[in-house]
Amino acid sequence: MEGVEPHVGIKKLVFEREDEHIRRMSMFLEEAVNQLLRAIRLRPCLGVVLGSAFGGVVNELEVDAEVQFDELPGMPSSSVKGHAGKFVVGRLAGLEVLVQAGRLHYYEGHSMEVVTFPMRLMAAVGVQRLVLTNAAGGISADLNVGDFMQITDHINLMGENPLRGTVTEGRTRFVDMADAYSAELGQALGQAAERCGLVLKQGVYLAVSGPSYETPAEIGAFANMGADAVGMSTVPETIVAKQCGMEVLGLSCITNAAAGKATDPITHEEVLAASVQASRNAAVLLNSFCDFLRDADER
Ligand code: HPA
Repeated sequence: MEGVEPHVGIKKLVFEREDEHIRRMSMFLEEAVNQLLRAIRLRPCLGVVLGSAFGGVVNELEVDAEVQFDELPGMPSSSVKGHAGKFVVGRLAGLEVLVQAGRLHYYEGHSMEVVTFPMRLMAAVGVQRLVLTNAAGGISADLNVGDFMQITDHINLMGENPLRGTVTEGRTRFVDMADAYSAELGQALGQAAERCGLVLKQGVYLAVSGPSYETPAEIGAFANMGADAVGMSTVPETIVAKQCGMEVLGLSCITNAAAGKATDPITHEEVLAASVQASRNAAVLLNSFCDFLRDADER
């Protein structure tokens, strides 16, 4: 790097390292896909990512196989309290599902390639429809703690896009996001909620990188931008799922009022406690959703 301006040299180094990381992750993918396919007998078309509040859903599964994250190349073990780390294949309300129990968060320090590796993995093993669940802070006055919100659209304020960098072979880099969240799956969720007597709200989810919570000024700005709820996940997964050609359903559980909307400070413990409170309903809702899809598939 002799004769190169120092900052240009550093930029080149960073670029090469990121590029190398992306290349390594795509090599891991092939191995991870083969390993996962060897471990499971079912070939589910529906994938489900369980965020906080939805973790209890694994207990509802008729399990076929479990694979710990760290058994697969490219997958780290999840370090955040309240998040397990495994893929579980089984049946939920009789429908075959591939469940990611435990999410990889950008705020944990994982790269976007790592955070979204499970989407590439799921797509490669045959998942066509993906349910992304999360805990979120309520911005809209219409949202209360314990409410479920179907994500109709999102705003990406994470400061990163998972498609940045080397493009994956056979995939487009410039993914259309106009219909990021499937209206058809959203309608199915609405009907499933009705069937089990739960209220389902709808709204726009705004993603930040975290891990600090927002300031009241930020929440005020997000409200002006059209956001109904705020969280620290889901958006990168949606973007990569869309690149992989999957249909996406987004579902938030409101675990707290966003910053400035309530007098008490927001804590991770409060979010986890509200998640535990909502987990029964969360399991009922997802169960009903799978039941609805299975009925629709059989018709
Ligand atoms: N902000 C960001 N992420 C969150 C929140 C919040 O208020 N609640 C749950 N996840």
